[in-house]
Amino acid sequence: MGLNEDWRRRSLAAVWHPCTQMKLHAPAGAAQPLVPIASAQGVWLHDYEGRRLLDGISSWWVNLFGHNHPAIREALTDQLSRLDHVMLAGLTHAPVVELSERLGALTGLGHAFYASDGAAATEIALKMSAHHWRNAGRPDKCRFVGVSGGYHGETVGALAVTDIPLFRQAYAPLLRLAATVPSPDARGAAAGEDAAAVAERAAAALGAWLAEHHAQTAAFIVEPLVQCAAGMAMHHPLYLRRVRELCTRYEVHLVVDEIAVGFGRTGSLFAHHQADIQPDFICLSKGLTGGTLPLSAVLCTDAVYAAFYDDEVARGFLHSHSYTGNPLACRAALATLDLFEQTDALRRNVEVAARLAAQFEPLASHPRVRHVRRQGMIFAWDIHSSLPDFARRYARHALAHGVLLRPIGHTLYAMPPYVISADEGEHLARGAMAALADTLAEETGGTARSGGGVDGV
Ligand SMILES: Cc1ncc(COP(=O)(O)O)c(C=O)c1O
Repeated sequence: MGLNEDWRRRSLAAVWHPCTQMKLHAPAGAAQPLVPIASAQGVWLHDYEGRRLLDGISSWWVNLFGHNHPAIREALTDQLSRLDHVMLAGLTHAPVVELSERLGALTGLGHAFYASDGAAATEIALKMSAHHWRNAGRPDKCRFVGVSGGYHGETVGALAVTDIPLFRQAYAPLLRLAATVPSPDARGAAAGEDAAAVAERAAAALGAWLAEHHAQTAAFIVEPLVQCAAGMAMHHPLYLRRVRELCTRYEVHLVVDEIAVGFGRTGSLFAHHQADIQPDFICLSKGLTGGTLPLSAVLCTDAVYAAFYDDEVARGFLHSHSYTGNPLACRAALATLDLFEQTDALRRNVEVAARLAAQFEPLASHPRVRHVRRQGMIFAWDIHSSLPDFARRYARHALAHGVLLRPIGHTLYAMPPYVISADEGEHLARGAMAALADTLAEETGGTARSGGGVDGV
């Protein structure tokens, strides 16, 4: 038995993999083969038998400067020799202080509160918002509103503002569901409408909703510019300007979830910068540590912080996680922020993204491709295919061509690490095209299996 097969078998016996119907991994002719990875370097993932795959989705959108980056590795090694971990309640340390100061300077918000995953950041922002209103003597403001197709994580609180039925259905009885308003997804343009008009229309729907419900609403949560899990649904920045105005008018917090789109992914350091707005809360994670360690942060306004600052303990934000502000994760984040400065990454990404767009041109002009779109280093194409399990089939073919690409439903997308070279871009673009041809060839083969599995993401 080969090494890969060995790890695959042991993993299937011992590990419950995330976001997966485990039966699809079942060894005999697996519809969704499990891929053992032994090591990673730059944009490449290496298996146990010397084969390599190009990480076209930055390992669930977390990696920015390539795997195993020497600067981040060095920072982590140094930190490990000083302080591995210490609780943050009642204690503090240089990495968490420095990171908080730098995130504050970059966002204009402050009082960084830490957790380990994106969903925990969502939970924190929602709890902080509702608790702020309670402390402000307005306890009725405890409901939330989000955007149709929005994704903010899958813990019970975060799932309540996540509008992806497949992820939510089974847990509906556990949730205190938030309201949803129409998405500003530019693909929803009616005849004669452009992206700005869709943004205005969607913002008007939020306005109508808030006019009726603002007295009970604590916060509106939105993924700025790109709703990634909805299938890279992109919108005009005007939407963010309008929702800022509405949230101010109706005294509702604006929470921007930059977990997937933050740290340069959309072309600016933070996506909401393109709308020139100041939110009340920002949720960060994923790229925060360059894709090395779990860390998330929530930053808020001074006004929110002030509502908790009191003689009474119960008016404080009594939320905690054991690994809050872990020094290693904070050092990885500091090294990542350094890399933005040292490599002039945002400016460089403009060139990298333009080069990739040219390399993806054959895909963009493929007759089965609709809604070609790009926002910074996020590329997406909707594929017209009759295969209900297009995503799964495509991902399998992509692996055979040496690329990790996992469409979401019928949306194929690429979100590679920023360090992708011209040759690597060529490999990615060619692999993406070849996998498309192989997948579409199965349409006529009569082998399409029905059943909407946990396709993509
Ligand atoms: C916009 C957004 N928010 C929240 C999350 C949840 O993050 P995590 O998976 O780290 O819990 C994700 C994850 O994909 C996301 O894309």
